[in-house]
Amino acid sequence: MLDLLVKNASLPDGRKDMSIAVRDGKIVQVHAGLDLPAKESLDAQGLLVSPPFVDAHFHMDATLSYGLPRVNQSGTLLEGIALWGELKPLLTQEAIVERALAYCDWAVAKGLLAIRSHVDICDPRLLAVEALLEVKRRVAPYLDLQLVAFPQDGVLRAPGALDNLKRALDLGVDVVGGIPHFERTMADGAASVKLLCELAAQRGLRVDMHCDESDDPLSRHVETLAFETQRLGLQGRVTGSHLTSMHSMDNYYVSKLLPLMAEARLHVVANPLINITLQGRHDSYPKRRGMTRVPELLAAGVNVAFGHDCVMDPWYSLGSADMLEVAHMGLHVAQMTSQAAMRQCFDAVTVNASHVMGLTGYGLEVGCNADFVLLQARDPVQAIRLRATRLKVFRRGKCVSRTPASISGLDLPGRPDQTSLMLP
Ligand code: FE2
Repeated sequence: MLDLLVKNASLPDGRKDMSIAVRDGKIVQVHAGLDLPAKESLDAQGLLVSPPFVDAHFHMDATLSYGLPRVNQSGTLLEGIALWGELKPLLTQEAIVERALAYCDWAVAKGLLAIRSHVDICDPRLLAVEALLEVKRRVAPYLDLQLVAFPQDGVLRAPGALDNLKRALDLGVDVVGGIPHFERTMADGAASVKLLCELAAQRGLRVDMHCDESDDPLSRHVETLAFETQRLGLQGRVTGSHLTSMHSMDNYYVSKLLPLMAEARLHVVANPLINITLQGRHDSYPKRRGMTRVPELLAAGVNVAFGHDCVMDPWYSLGSADMLEVAHMGLHVAQMTSQAAMRQCFDAVTVNASHVMGLTGYGLEVGCNADFVLLQARDPVQAIRLRATRLKVFRRGKCVSRTPASISGLDLPGRPDQTSLMLP
């Protein structure tokens, strides 16, 4: 006897009328038209069943702190970093835990069941590290939280940061972070990339660096990151986050850079909501968009995910844990408007992001964890268009969140199947 049978589902790859059979928290069969006895059954009525959303780039130690101790007046990255510096001494572990848990509730309700969060290690108390390790333990039954040791003020620039970073890893933080463009010189930035990649190689850890997050066309840290990845045999385990300078780089140089990144099997995370608001701030007109070159990276064979980065914090006053909003913005900024490109934007907040995190058991194949989302949409493009309601969210075969259907413009006017959904 199965625990759960989902019938009549549309899958993100276009398959229709699919059944998903679940036993002991795992997917045991995926087949068209399958009908087997189950303790619980769900008729998806042709709607989309997707693997959960994955956010490959977030800052959970800062989330939901908007207005503390003041708001970012200029809206720039640098004022955001300065503001975060003002907030840090005022933080308590209890307040970080409370805000992070609230965010995780939002996330689950939006079908977002895996998050990679950077955590600032520059405070020698490691207050935020301890708080988010506690949150990671508490949310584990329903959400995979992966932590990156992030030296916000620069691992070389900030006194004691390297020691703090190593202590954070000793405490159980999963991934080595960095911020080479915030070091004092280009040479120091390159030295920080080398140092941090060597540390990750010694400890058998993944790397995820904020890298070239500026409009400087001559910022070159992603080149160093790709080179060190290959030198140390870290292929497939290293991520360059933001890479906004690539937007402004010389086209000839990029034609040389893209194959280097592909050879290193570098992952890339663009953060469309943040990149479009923080970059181009020194421009008059025309103003640069400042998001990295997503279609060109994908065409070169590089795995690209979209991250949320910030929700209601010193850098960004909006956001709601909705990865479809992130995909929607990414699609617009990158002008990825073909049917195939729009589906790539859906992949950027699901399967591609799972590759960044190195998740195991992710997907809708036999043997995968029974984690999936029933969306009030018929396909990934419609899901992005509508920022579709997450009707039901399943974790290990159990429903962990449900949201009533909305009147949503699901079908074109005059179509007979546009009327109400009678989902249980
Ligand atoms: Fe970030």
